[in-house]
Amino acid sequence: MEFLRSVVPFQPAPVISTDTVILRSPGMADYAAWSELRGASRSFLMPWEPVWPIDDLTKPAFRRRLRRYQREMQEATGYPFLVFRTGDLNLVGGLTLSHIVRGVTQSCSLGYWMGERYAGKGLMTAAVKAVIPFVFDTLKLHRLEAACLPHNSASIRLLEKAGFTREGYARRYLNIDGRWQDHLLFAIVSDDPRP
Ligand SMILES: CC(C)(COP(=O)(O)OP(=O)(O)OC[C@H]1O[C@@H](n2cnc3c(N)ncnc32)[C@H](O)[C@@H]1OP(=O)(O)O)[C@@H](O)C(=O)NCCC(=O)NCCS
Repeated sequence: MEFLRSVVPFQPAPVISTDTVILRSPGMADYAAWSELRGASRSFLMPWEPVWPIDDLTKPAFRRRLRRYQREMQEATGYPFLVFRTGDLNLVGGLTLSHIVRGVTQSCSLGYWMGERYAGKGLMTAAVKAVIPFVFDTLKLHRLEAACLPHNSASIRLLEKAGFTREGYARRYLNIDGRWQDHLLFAIVSDDPRP
């Protein structure tokens, strides 16, 4: 059972480019655009995210975030991406792959957010579709999971369009907006059709 012991060597997050979006890992030079977009989208994002630490948009907190991302990439447990619009290269949102588990599971979790002014333009659907080959073909994982609140229609629609299947319902699964909330569980596996 060779695959059970497989350890994929250090794999930096690649730059992933399509006609619509470009995904790459964040650096300190992204701080100004990131904090501006997250700050301007605060009330749009807050109902769907864990409570933001009080200093979340500050430069030291961003630096700490980058250090955590770096550690996760080195340990091959997670890959963070910022999402830019192809053409004007504006930062539009973020996408993270986290909780990478090897062994018999070979799975990882997907999270994403879009700046309010860029939402509803198909950009995160394009970003999620673009990251799937990295997950299955480069990282050689078997399963990509995502969870969302049952009333998050945009997120549900996005996952369906990107080829995910609804698999379950987890009670009080994640602490979102300060409360343990029920979630729908979605996943795509490596041999599912890719849209
Ligand atoms: C969820 C989110 C990432 C989607 O990103 P996006 O770039 O706006 O998504 P897209 O434009 O690619 O696709 C969204 C789809 O949902 C649909 N949609 C949007 N709002 C909707 C609503 N209120 N009801 C039903 N469908 C909705 C869009 O019409 C689109 O589907 P379509 O192409 O068939 O028309 C973004 O809305 C967001 O960041 N929301 C707040 C934070 C959040 O929910 N994070 C995810 C937590 S799981």
